Amino acid sequence: MGITCKDIDGGKLFKLDTPNSSYIFRTADNDGFILHMYYGKRLSGTGLDDLARIKEPPFLPSGNERERCSFMDCAPFEYPGHGLGDYRDDAFSVISNDGYFATSVSYSDHRIIQGKPRLEGLPATFGNEDECTTLEITAVDAINGLEIILYYSVFENVDAIARSVKIRNMGTGSAEKDNSSIRITKALSTCVEFYGGDYDTITLHGSWARERIMDREHLGYGKRSITSVRGESSHQEHPFIALLDHDANEDHGNVYGFSFVYSGNFTAQAEKSQFDSVRVMMGINPVDFCWNLKVGEEFRAPEVISVYSDEGIGKMSRTFHDLYRNHLIRSKYKDCKRPILINNWEATYFDFNTDKLIAIAKQAKELGIEMLVMDDGWFGHRNDDSNSLGDWIVNEDKIKGGLKYLVDEVNKIGLKFGIWMEPEMISPDSDLYRAHPDWAIQIPGRKPTLSRAQLVLDLSRPEVVDYTFGQVERILKSANIAYLKWDMNRQLTDIGSAMLGKEGQGELFHRYCLGVYKLQERLVTEFPDLLLENCSGGGARFDPGMLYYSPQIWTSDDMDPVMRLQIQQGTALIYPLSSMGAHVCDCPNHSTGRTTPFATRGYVALAGTFGYELDVTRIPEADRNMIPAQVAMYHKYNDLVRTGDYYRVASYLENHEWDCWEVVSKDKKEALITIINVIGRVNMKSRRVKLKGLDPSKTYSLRYYNMDKADEDEEIIRLKGDALMYAGINATGDYHGDFKGRLLHLVEI
Ligand code: DGJ
Repeated sequence: MGITCKDIDGGKLFKLDTPNSSYIFRTADNDGFILHMYYGKRLSGTGLDDLARIKEPPFLPSGNERERCSFMDCAPFEYPGHGLGDYRDDAFSVISNDGYFATSVSYSDHRIIQGKPRLEGLPATFGNEDECTTLEITAVDAINGLEIILYYSVFENVDAIARSVKIRNMGTGSAEKDNSSIRITKALSTCVEFYGGDYDTITLHGSWARERIMDREHLGYGKRSITSVRGESSHQEHPFIALLDHDANEDHGNVYGFSFVYSGNFTAQAEKSQFDSVRVMMGINPVDFCWNLKVGEEFRAPEVISVYSDEGIGKMSRTFHDLYRNHLIRSKYKDCKRPILINNWEATYFDFNTDKLIAIAKQAKELGIEMLVMDDGWFGHRNDDSNSLGDWIVNEDKIKGGLKYLVDEVNKIGLKFGIWMEPEMISPDSDLYRAHPDWAIQIPGRKPTLSRAQLVLDLSRPEVVDYTFGQVERILKSANIAYLKWDMNRQLTDIGSAMLGKEGQGELFHRYCLGVYKLQERLVTEFPDLLLENCSGGGARFDPGMLYYSPQIWTSDDMDPVMRLQIQQGTALIYPLSSMGAHVCDCPNHSTGRTTPFATRGYVALAGTFGYELDVTRIPEADRNMIPAQVAMYHKYNDLVRTGDYYRVASYLENHEWDCWEVVSKDKKEALITIINVIGRVNMKSRRVKLKGLDPSKTYSLRYYNMDKADEDEEIIRLKGDALMYAGINATGDYHGDFKGRLLHLVEI
């Protein structure tokens, strides 16, 4: 495993191996082109030699200068430049000092190191010397005087490769005599070429309260492209694309997933060329991007993770889950059962005070809930969403006695305390705005576009980052606060920074994102015991970048379990269940108006961090009485849900009737199966379910979880893993009526 390099015909051949995949590219002698050869199922050494023998285009220039353009337009560049005959989309373009756009990328040197260097200022996966090997290819664009370093980190135990790029202005370009900047107008993070296949793409799309819904399409000629220009990864599209065999399914076929470890504007696309090759690229969106790179300066593009699966979509998801659980999330809570929280947002919205919160806390404690989270509305004069963001002063008209008093009282009841903040924002109606209108992102002379009546702080400015951190720090230190929900409720518009000047506005989007990262890095460093949950108007910034700072992210404002089936299925395409914020809500659901059984709401929330978002003093008694059983259910199964392997068994999105997923422990001794019968079918008394991921030779005992007993029923049956997987079981239950659910637990005997 790891990385090998071999001299061939005046060039070099690089082979990157993970346990089940190989990634191969070569350099060509004359021009130093870096050309992709293969990505897919692992090849033996012989495979490597065979590939090296292929000497015809597209792996090598034809030598026919007269038709160089033809070569350029079909060559599988590892990092395609701009404007020199490759008419497909490029990864890298500039405006040079002379005003030219063209770029080229030629190999100059390389080194292989153990481990994985950090990406300064950026979130990134990590691995020590035993877990990762990194290849650094140094390439040059001599005319522009640029050095381009391509990084490839290979994980020893996960089928994943992390790629990122650094661009350095060497000051040696033909137009660098006056020592001024090159302007980078595009610097993507990865490009991979595929040959000879018939492919589909999977992307995740959505809207507020409907995030990350899976979308599979057959890839035709031209481009399948998804983007964000909203200053965050967004509800609407997601920094992820998978390319997969047209006939691949959940359990079979080649699947390549690409996930961007970044939280700002992105582009991800698959482009099918005239020669049927497919170029997949991903990186920072070039729209409104222009980075000034002075002589001696470097620009670092964030990393893209590519995961290969030869066993369908399911294995791709499990690989991402393992990678992100073990090599991205850093929090001390990542391997722990999180406290069951109750959040007051949908319980009270802005209408709460100390007494109401204490009443909720007392009732919650009796039922087994472990933490109270006070949401939006506790500061400034905020009784609705029109004001006070930026004025992080406790509103003592509501929180009588102050924050510390409230927290102490809640602690005395026996609950931890958590708080909501939206540090990146500023309301025009706030003392902060009145003092520093120039701290808001806006364009002089233009009326700024409001969203939720608020503006965004210019976090490209170090003094704004410092001030903002100071506010968060002061609140967290003022009382015994165990948890912070960091919200971000609007997307960026009116891209204008009072600091960046005429030449610098094209840096604002990225600098904003770097500012968010700076803030959160300081936060997790200064408060290592804080449980941080990121959030953005629901799940608009549920991305790998934010997971680097918080072990959990609020998945969606939509807690209706039927919508959540789709949202959580799409989210779990990439992200581990341990990271998905999920709560039991009241009914009729505030987003969809749907009424569902309380038990079902619990089963669906169990597939995430698990908590409550309702007024526990006012919900129907029967629902309240069920909470201790749900709490017991969480304590019984959360270790398995958090750490196990996730399998999609049936998707309501596809069959429009029922949904089923399964979590199997790593040692295959235990499995939890959740069945949600969304739309009941007449006369359907049981469901035949073929399980996955079990050990065929182990014998398992099957039990159902019984809400009335707050425990499992007696054993139903004992069956071998092969029978459970290949023949399946009839999962019986109360399937009369819609939205009924069932939990099945298998334990090896
Ligand atoms: C959006 C979040 O997703 C909600 O949970 C809640 O915190 C509101 N913001 C508060 O404004």
